[in-house]
Amino acid sequence: MSSILLVTSSPRGDESLSSKVAQDLANALSARTNGTSVVHRDLGANPVPHLDSVTTAAIRKAPADRTPAEAAAADYSDKLVAELMAADTVVIATGLINFNIYSTLKSWIDNVARAGQTFRYTENGPIGLATGKKVYVVLASGGVYSQGPATGMNHAVPYLTTVLGFMGMTDVEVIYVEGLAFGPDAAEKAIANAQQRTQQLALVA
Ligand SMILES: Cc1cc2nc3c(=O)[nH]c(=O)nc-3n(C[C@H](O)[C@H](O)[C@H](O)COP(=O)(O)O)c2cc1C
Repeated sequence: MSSILLVTSSPRGDESLSSKVAQDLANALSARTNGTSVVHRDLGANPVPHLDSVTTAAIRKAPADRTPAEAAAADYSDKLVAELMAADTVVIATGLINFNIYSTLKSWIDNVARAGQTFRYTENGPIGLATGKKVYVVLASGGVYSQGPATGMNHAVPYLTTVLGFMGMTDVEVIYVEGLAFGPDAAEKAIANAQQRTQQLALVA
């Protein structure tokens, strides 16, 4: 049975355009194959806490050496890792926030990028262990970054492709929902374009 992990990060609930397009994409992808399950990790509603001294100590220690608080932190991080590793397809949604991703998504990444679990160090350098997954990134933004003069100001896509690739996820497709600040007509067109793109991507998945 195939499985989709949908990771949304906007705190804006039903107003979020990255979450809406990503949810539509997850629905379209799951409708393609009978029995596909969708696990939704909603970081906007249930944010992953920022790294603290307990979590950073916990993930470096052997289970037997952890305090009860560290064991709880490691279990939580392990659960996030297990969700990611179980997925064949990952759909990640974020707004462009001050030229990067929502901080809730960054906290999720800080918990799932784990040495020995999603990547490991070898004599020849690090290798990713979260391989064989198709990843879709839905990026909503006020401005336009997929082309034109602001392209270099988009730090979200280079960052995500780097860190996902580091974990072994190299097959990454980006769906832009952009130009949302350029008035209602432009926003409507941006959403329609993104929805059309998600339908096309689902057809070829
Ligand atoms: C705090 C904040 C920072 C933002 N920074 C940017 C930015 O750097 N560039 C941009 O084009 N849009 C920016 N925006 C607009 C968001 O990217 C846009 O509202 C997007 O739809 C948010 O995603 P969401 O709808 O999924 O919440 C920002 C919005 C907020 C609230």
